[in-house]
Amino acid sequence: MSNIIQAHDLKFKPFIEADSIAETVKKMGHALKTEYADKNPLFICVLNGAFVFAADLLRACDFPCEIAFVRLASYQGSSSTGKVTTIFGLDVPLKGRHVVVVEDIVDSGLTLSHFLKELNTLHPASLKLAVLLIKPDALQVDIRPDFCGFEIPNEFVVGYGLDYDGQCRNLPAIFIKTDDQ
Ligand code: IMP
Repeated sequence: MSNIIQAHDLKFKPFIEADSIAETVKKMGHALKTEYADKNPLFICVLNGAFVFAADLLRACDFPCEIAFVRLASYQGSSSTGKVTTIFGLDVPLKGRHVVVVEDIVDSGLTLSHFLKELNTLHPASLKLAVLLIKPDALQVDIRPDFCGFEIPNEFVVGYGLDYDGQCRNLPAIFIKTDDQ
């Protein structure tokens, strides 16, 4: 049986298994606990892509915490435009809160660098970043996630919430674009 996934015009092959993601997310939950166990942090999940990661990460955090959701638009197809538009704003005051932004993937980093600057103007007590994936070779700004799952090559990936034009968010593992298309 082939493990190749076809989505629209692109083919993807298995890259990070579901078990490996689960183990990494669990470890991140432990790391968050050592820092936030008594701080009632507010997680801010960046929709749409981070919804699966955020759902698992929150359940790996066995201490009091809250979650809010924000939606930013910055991406079309399989290359980043770098444009940032907040579509849904935050409805929770951040002043004095310990905030952890939860993002699926850092590619150029442009989306997050704008967003983090904006959040900082709301005077959180602290502001940190938890990401599942980062493409170090694609970074265009100096962003260093405080909690990071996997460093990956500068290739397009899907699954576990990440999409290609709407497809593949439901895949339980992460798949990478094949060289032969
Ligand atoms: P950045 O501003 O270039 O860092 O782009 C970040 C956003 O682009 C992420 O939140 C994703 O929604 C999307 N993105 C970046 N790389 C990929 C990828 O390989 N697959 C799917 N979406 C991606």
